[in-house]
Amino acid sequence: MTAPRPVEIVVDGVSKAFGTVQALVDVHVHVRAGEFLSLIGPSGCGKTTLLKTIAGLVAPDAGRVVVGNRTVDGPGRECSVVFQDFALLPWATVQKNAEFGLLLRGVPAAARAERARGVIAKVGLAGFEHAYPAQLSGGMQQRVGLARALAVNPQVLLMDEPFASIDEQTRRVFQDDLLQLWSEERKTVVLVTHSMEEAIYLSDRVVVLSPRPGRVHQVLEVPLPRPREGAGVRATAEFARLVDDLWKVLRKLQ
Ligand SMILES: Nc1ncnc2c1ncn2[C@@H]1O[C@H](COP(=O)(O)OP(=O)(O)O)[C@@H](O)[C@H]1O
Ligand SMILES: [Mg+2]
Repeated sequence: MTAPRPVEIVVDGVSKAFGTVQALVDVHVHVRAGEFLSLIGPSGCGKTTLLKTIAGLVAPDAGRVVVGNRTVDGPGRECSVVFQDFALLPWATVQKNAEFGLLLRGVPAAARAERARGVIAKVGLAGFEHAYPAQLSGGMQQRVGLARALAVNPQVLLMDEPFASIDEQTRRVFQDDLLQLWSEERKTVVLVTHSMEEAIYLSDRVVVLSPRPGRVHQVLEVPLPRPREGAGVRATAEFARLVDDLWKVLRKLQ
């Protein structure tokens, strides 16, 4: 599959309520084509709701989301989502899980199998094609989630706290692998995280949402040079300063 051109995402005045709970109010975010952008904010501020709105899984009450040149009105081909709880099919092998999105798109079996094998290798799971999710560690299960998302070669990768339930060592390796993949595939990435270090380490910009109802409180630039993976970035004074800047913003929101 040829790499699709990355697209920009425009979140234009999005508001969303669930019954009497106002989750988002007039949210404006412009994600540049090929950018790695993180969303961070207090629990319940609407991060997941915003991500699902971009994915077309939640319809906004007001405002709109434009991905590339399409106004989102339902799930589309541009976006793949990696969920926090992996959302794998427990009865299916790694191979079949990775093929799932392709199956939904009607890709023939042989092409499906080949493409899935390729992305399974890319996320570091070669040799585990015939394993079932329950036989894998949390980190490996999340790699399957990533393989499934990448298999359909989306222009946009949306990730909802993908590293939240993974131990710290595994997480750091996975973060470096993700940066490596992103540098090869140049997708537009929106990552929801509650980790300040993670947001700074991975992102070009970090969007801080205010407590519910969520709105954009501040946007921080992360001017750390790339590639960051394997470059000892976490040990630099600049990294520490950026994490501290982000903490100062978040602390005031508590
Ligand atoms: N499907 C839903 N039905 C009812 N309330 C919801 C639904 N999804 C989210 N909410 C509520 O909207 C608010 C924002 O939720 P969410 O987007 O999950 O926040 P976050 O991901 O930042 O923790 C919360 O108060 C949550 O309980
Ligand atoms: Mg959430």
